[in-house]
Amino acid sequence: MTSTDPRTRPAASPSFPPAFFFGAATAAYQIEGAVDADGRGRSIWDTFSHTPGRTFQGHTGDVAVEHYTRYREDVALMADLGLQAYRFSVAWARVLPEGAERIEQRGLDFYSRLVDELLSRGIDPWITLYHWDLPQALQDRGGWTNRDTAARFADYAGIVHDALGDRVRNWSTLNEPMVSALLGHQAGEHAPGVRDAGSASRAVHHLLLGHGLAARVLRDKGVESLGVTLNFTPMTPASERPEDVDAARRLDGQQNRMFLTPIVQGAYPEDVVADLAAAGAPLPVEDGDLATIAAPLDWLGVNYYFEQTVRAGTRPEGMAPTCFIGGEDVVELDPAGPTTTMGWGISPDTFTALLLWLKDQAPGLPLVITENGSAWDDEVSDDGAVHDPERVDYLLRHLQAVSAAIGTGADVRGYFAWSLLDNFEWARGYAQRFGLVHVDYETQQRTVKDSGRAYAEIIRRHRGV
Ligand code: NOJ
Repeated sequence: MTSTDPRTRPAASPSFPPAFFFGAATAAYQIEGAVDADGRGRSIWDTFSHTPGRTFQGHTGDVAVEHYTRYREDVALMADLGLQAYRFSVAWARVLPEGAERIEQRGLDFYSRLVDELLSRGIDPWITLYHWDLPQALQDRGGWTNRDTAARFADYAGIVHDALGDRVRNWSTLNEPMVSALLGHQAGEHAPGVRDAGSASRAVHHLLLGHGLAARVLRDKGVESLGVTLNFTPMTPASERPEDVDAARRLDGQQNRMFLTPIVQGAYPEDVVADLAAAGAPLPVEDGDLATIAAPLDWLGVNYYFEQTVRAGTRPEGMAPTCFIGGEDVVELDPAGPTTTMGWGISPDTFTALLLWLKDQAPGLPLVITENGSAWDDEVSDDGAVHDPERVDYLLRHLQAVSAAIGTGADVRGYFAWSLLDNFEWARGYAQRFGLVHVDYETQQRTVKDSGRAYAEIIRRHRGV
């Protein structure tokens, strides 16, 4: 797909090493729909989205963008864009409707067909095993607060690998465990909608343990491209006042370092351990767990969207609960400049700084940008196109940021745009559009946005085709 329209022609294309690859990402519950098809079991997101008041206007993933039946069309779109890789997640409850034991072959067959379709188009599949949709049957036994869920996750990882490992090289265990643990169990804004400090810290540790156990299973099965995806929100104190500096340290501790440090260094950060103990919510670590969690990886998946400025103080009345265990005395400031429709600021320079920080935190571990993107109010224009200059600008500036980090020594191997398609944005429902491809939710019609065309042009130039 080449572009002659100046709106879709990137002025200065950032440059990348020849082996660098470009892809796009999605997640099962956000796109598949077909929640009753082929013996699929319920997940915590079915339950949560069907609970009144939990999601924007009661939106659910029941239909989503019908990727389950339209996957061939969607893979054709990926091929038109020139994508080299596609990151998607497997829905645990399609494979194991009760979370464990009984395997639903029809669920596995869907992913097998998807993988074959991708490979036939020369697109490299990147599987994420857990993108937040825990089988409800496991939630009924405590979910991630129950240590046993970590072992069940490792079983599930092995089952999916047995079905797809002959064709899929790239495996990721978890997507954003911080969000599963803290937005799900502390802020309560995501499934399972719990607000309890003890549950949150148990979920943190059991998710990480699940990662480590699954990594061991995948490694034993011969996986050579193994990783995990973490999200990072760089924190800046609002002032040099010691209270604000400490608020930034505490939030950074729980939202970033609590997940990265055990994985790459085999220990929780001491300050985080102390904060959690003070909050009466210690991490339920048992002997040997940290060695399991620190399983060697081949790459670290990095999701980056925005940075945050924080201060100490009482949260204003009506402010959403934060992802922080132990007190409500940290406050996130509104971003200073323009924001996306999510209300997130735009800080590409911080992206560069984050990648360079990660280079030092995890020396020798290659990085893959597993998500980066922005939401805007997109509409199909009278000319039939979707003009999204803000997303084009966001994309270019963030690609420049990645290129700059590589130029300064960060080992970044690839970039996945979030997202291929507009989709179900969790608690925000369908009101937030992140896609490179617009979806009309009435007709399911797909329309490549200007940003999709700009991305295709960047990829085309990079590949020299
Ligand atoms: C991260 C999550 O992995 C993804 O599911 C979500 O849609 C994006 N962030 C945007 O919020």
